[in-house]
Amino acid sequence: MTFSGVMWLPWRCAPGRVSACAVRRVFTSALRRRSSCSPAAFLPEAAGFQGVKDRATLHEYSLSDSQGFWGAVARHRLSWIRPFDTVQDCDLRQGRIKWFEGGKLNVSVNCLDRHVHTCPERVALIWERDERGSEVRYTYRELLEMTCRLGNLLKRHGVKRGDCVTIYMPTCPLAVASMLACARIGAAHNVVFAGFSAEALAERIRDAQSSIVITMDQGVRGGKVVELKKTVDAAVESCPMVRQVFVGLRTDKPVAMAARDIPMEEEMQKEDVVCEPAVMDSEDVLFLLYTSGSTGKPKGLVHTQAGYLLYAALTQRSVFSYQDGDVFGCVADIGWITGHSYTVYGPLANGGTTVLFDSTPIYPDPGRYWDMVERLKINQFYGAPTAIRLLLKHGDEWVNKYDRSSLKTLGSVGEPINTEAWEWYHRVVGEGRCPVVDTWWQTETGGICIAPKPSEADAEIIPGMAMRPFFGIKPVLMDTEGKTLTSNNTSGALCLAQPWPGMARSIHNNHQRFIETYCLPYPGYFFTGDGAYRSEEGYYQITGRLDDVINVSGHRIGTAEIEDVVNQCPAVAESAVIGYSHNIKGQGVYVFVVLKKNVDVQEADLSKQLNSMVSKNIAKYACPDFIQFVQRLPKTRSGKIMRRVLRKVVERDLDSLGDLSTLDDPAVVQEIIQGHRQLLSK
Ligand code: WTA
Repeated sequence: MTFSGVMWLPWRCAPGRVSACAVRRVFTSALRRRSSCSPAAFLPEAAGFQGVKDRATLHEYSLSDSQGFWGAVARHRLSWIRPFDTVQDCDLRQGRIKWFEGGKLNVSVNCLDRHVHTCPERVALIWERDERGSEVRYTYRELLEMTCRLGNLLKRHGVKRGDCVTIYMPTCPLAVASMLACARIGAAHNVVFAGFSAEALAERIRDAQSSIVITMDQGVRGGKVVELKKTVDAAVESCPMVRQVFVGLRTDKPVAMAARDIPMEEEMQKEDVVCEPAVMDSEDVLFLLYTSGSTGKPKGLVHTQAGYLLYAALTQRSVFSYQDGDVFGCVADIGWITGHSYTVYGPLANGGTTVLFDSTPIYPDPGRYWDMVERLKINQFYGAPTAIRLLLKHGDEWVNKYDRSSLKTLGSVGEPINTEAWEWYHRVVGEGRCPVVDTWWQTETGGICIAPKPSEADAEIIPGMAMRPFFGIKPVLMDTEGKTLTSNNTSGALCLAQPWPGMARSIHNNHQRFIETYCLPYPGYFFTGDGAYRSEEGYYQITGRLDDVINVSGHRIGTAEIEDVVNQCPAVAESAVIGYSHNIKGQGVYVFVVLKKNVDVQEADLSKQLNSMVSKNIAKYACPDFIQFVQRLPKTRSGKIMRRVLRKVVERDLDSLGDLSTLDDPAVVQEIIQGHRQLLSK
């Protein structure tokens, strides 16, 4: 791991800037009038906890009696086939994380059957299709039926407990049913974001050793057709283990079907609507989800059954103040962890109504989200800062055209939300009356770990700050020597000091990498890879990644992943990828390229070629915004690229280039600065 001690301080939100935004504290006026409530209001189980009188004491209790807290919550929230024997058996030093052992349950039963018993006709899913105004609703009964048919179909084609099924689909009911069908029969799922290229998909299929892939003929997004089946065909060419591809229908255009392809709907009709749920152990694998780390190879994080589901359900209900009957609108794609936890598992475990958003924020126009809020009467809206910044630029009229009176809570996730975007979200979208929750978490954490809510109704919310650790979460800041920073008004590497049920258990096929990445940097703590600032009052603000992972439009991508692709170009000798502040995407991709000697190519042609290579090998979102051709990169005498210098150049922060004395030849810095100026002036 490359880890530079200076990074967490200034690049995004230096403490100075934090205090400036901290000056403006927001109390939503409607809430302020109400008096504080007891913790049982946001966590009914708390009524049984001795001496717990407010959020702070409940949080303390969740840490000091972690067994008591999580045991009570798990018994209350989940339906168990057999009760668990122990609440937790964890040792962060060893990377051993086990929750609710001895317990047996089925996740799909928790998400479907138990609600079908009480309210079969309640709407589970509202599919907001790309074509505006053509939404489709599915009740819990219908979703259970679809899940069971699909579970039976998978079983008929040899899928067994413990197998891993790759799902390459847009956000739609069939995708949700596919995830739940895997859970029903005890198979793990591996959802791959449907914007990933064939190469990226193939890499994930191979690593997961999936013999089954589920996809759709085509997707439709922003009015454009996305060739999903064709991408899967290209991917499976290099995946000999794939036995069958299940193909769902979205468009009328026939796609080529090979012998291994199975028309899903047609075959599902032949299946029984009852599918016996597999009896799963709490710690059996529920899913793998690949995400980027600081090396070129994406890692398949492993989440298990009971702890993950419990944590997703509990956070969905309490961070967003979700109540029965509410319509929950998380607009994340199911290909990311946010889609897993807050579009699918959290809301369904709570018997909620969840929106599947299958379009873009600006299609057919920048009013799309708010038109949807009005039409579907969405109560909680959960989105990404990049979209908020984009919509802010289009002006208030696109928001004001629509009735947003149904909205109660607004959420933000995936990257830091700047104060301007936060204020606009609060003032314009939420009409100043909805709390905005900036939620910090990761694929690794399974669910929200730091957020302003739950808290007492009159508790303050500070713009752009995640603020308060969730129950069971104990954030700790570390200095570069690995010492705990105990004072407030300080910044450091963000670690979590206690295990929690939602955390990832391992990296698929590589537990050692899990231990090295998360457990060894600060022994006894879970290292998040993020930096954070703790304010005078003890609130947390995330300041950005400490490793070589960047965040483009809320999507994680390792700089090494992009470099690996760029370096495959025969004309390229070496490259360095840097993330820089981008006013819409959060971070943009800036690539420095050194060409091989005597290469005769036009830079413009090569730039195009590199762009298409990144798009083909990874995904469009990872494509470079800028490519600067340089004679050489700034290196130390030992040959290590000094990324800090490159970062300062692209951030135009030339006054703080820092100590250049260890550079092999400091003159390189001026060359790079000049080249950067020329590139920007083009
Ligand atoms: C970043 C997304 C600031 C962070 C749920 C983290 C955030 C990475 C926030 C995880 C936030 C997420 N404020 N930064 N509220 N939420 N991040 O795995 O760097 O796709 O480590 O999970 O996104 O991204 P991932």
